[in-house]
Amino acid sequence: MSVIEFLQFVDQLVFQHTGNHLNNLQKNVVQGIWQGKTYSEIADEFGYDSENHIGNVSRELYKILSKHLKENFNKSNFRWTIERLANSNSSQQVLSSSIINNSHINLCANHPQDSPKNPEQNISTKSYHDLTLAPKITHFYGRKTQLETLSHWLTQQNTRLISILGVSGIGKTTLVKHFIDINLEQFDVIVWKSIKLTLSLDDIITEILAGINTEPIKDKNKLTQLFNLFRQQRCLLILDDVQKLFVSGEFAGQYKTESKDYKTFFTMMTETEHQSSLILISQEQCQEMISLDEELYPVKSLELEGLDNTEILKGYGLKDESSWLRLIQLYEGNPVYLKNIAILIKKIFLGKVSEFLMEDSLILTEDIKFRFNDLFARLSPGERQIILELSKTNQPMSREDLRQALSLSSVDLINGLQSLSKRYLLKTTEEDKILFNLSPVWREYVMISP
Ligand SMILES: Nc1ncnc2c1ncn2[C@@H]1O[C@H](COP(=O)(O)OP(=O)(O)O)[C@@H](O)[C@H]1O
Ligand SMILES: [Mg+2]
Repeated sequence: MSVIEFLQFVDQLVFQHTGNHLNNLQKNVVQGIWQGKTYSEIADEFGYDSENHIGNVSRELYKILSKHLKENFNKSNFRWTIERLANSNSSQQVLSSSIINNSHINLCANHPQDSPKNPEQNISTKSYHDLTLAPKITHFYGRKTQLETLSHWLTQQNTRLISILGVSGIGKTTLVKHFIDINLEQFDVIVWKSIKLTLSLDDIITEILAGINTEPIKDKNKLTQLFNLFRQQRCLLILDDVQKLFVSGEFAGQYKTESKDYKTFFTMMTETEHQSSLILISQEQCQEMISLDEELYPVKSLELEGLDNTEILKGYGLKDESSWLRLIQLYEGNPVYLKNIAILIKKIFLGKVSEFLMEDSLILTEDIKFRFNDLFARLSPGERQIILELSKTNQPMSREDLRQALSLSSVDLINGLQSLSKRYLLKTTEEDKILFNLSPVWREYVMISP
């Protein structure tokens, strides 16, 4: 039996039992095993870093065949068992008994889509969800309009780049994960990655391609392979904590040198033709997240504000329900601040919210301060000056007030204000003038911090 006959026979068996032909990687593995190669030799030959991946692909094949052919396939008996089945009188029976069970499958199917000349076609169409790095959501309140907006953008408009923006703890990650939980079936492929854990885009792409089991990953054209996948299947890629791509101590949204390739990737996401979407979750807005014309650009952003419903406090064991709304307003509806304060009220005030509110001061827990330390450390020197000035008075200030109080040039002041608003750390209101202010909790932090 030649290697071609061997491959054809295995391909037919797999196709009959799974409805999928062998993809290129599986073909290479089968060929390697036929040639008596080790997993590590196969991995070397086809450019995979790890023999484990080849081992996994092989074991998956043995499992499929063992299950359906009632034979115990493993690496050492694979070639011999396949040849025995193919040569035996029962080979037609092996194939035809499968036809009875899978009458929709055409045994003589031509499958030019598997031609190695067309690498775009070699992606298996089974769904693939990698949500290992996403949080598990047990409680979810409110955000009805935001869920509807996301659904409209993703399922009706096929928006290719969506940013979920807002200050730390406001509920960005939770919103996106909840949306995915209720919309899993809308996508063939869903992958969740956090920039906190991996800064390298190359690593992220390699992991996605390896997970989806496409043809051997070629170092030179991984991005092309990824966009082939984005074209052929409906994929949703989520990148969390995208602010980690940006430099600390400078204006918001400036890419670190080592993360510049993301800028290209985000732009390609919007400019290339495909059917997939990327969601960016970030505390800082960068240029690629800004849509100048909602109609014209395939880029959207959702800026999250606090929750305004008392539901979020249910389950924390608090008393005085009539005071809950005031507590929510005091802590700007930020679920993380509220969770922290609820714990404190339960311990020290035995759950009595009204007694806590009588204290008449804004108490910040260590966790809240810790989050703000992080945010403050990211500010540029000019932004710090503006923040410190705004924290001195309880009144909103105009640009003119700030210019007079600070020794900043007009350009530096405007750039500083813009950067702060890209971090969601500035409140802007319009009366007869445009006025700037800090949120109460943030102001409190700036005032008490050294
Ligand atoms: N809509 C919501 N319903 C219930 N709890 C929420 C909601 N949004 C956020 N939370 C709570 O607040 C915490 C912080 O939310 P998270 O999504 O991690 O914020 P972010 O990603 O903006 O920093 C979560 O762990 C969760 O407990
Ligand atoms: Mg988050």
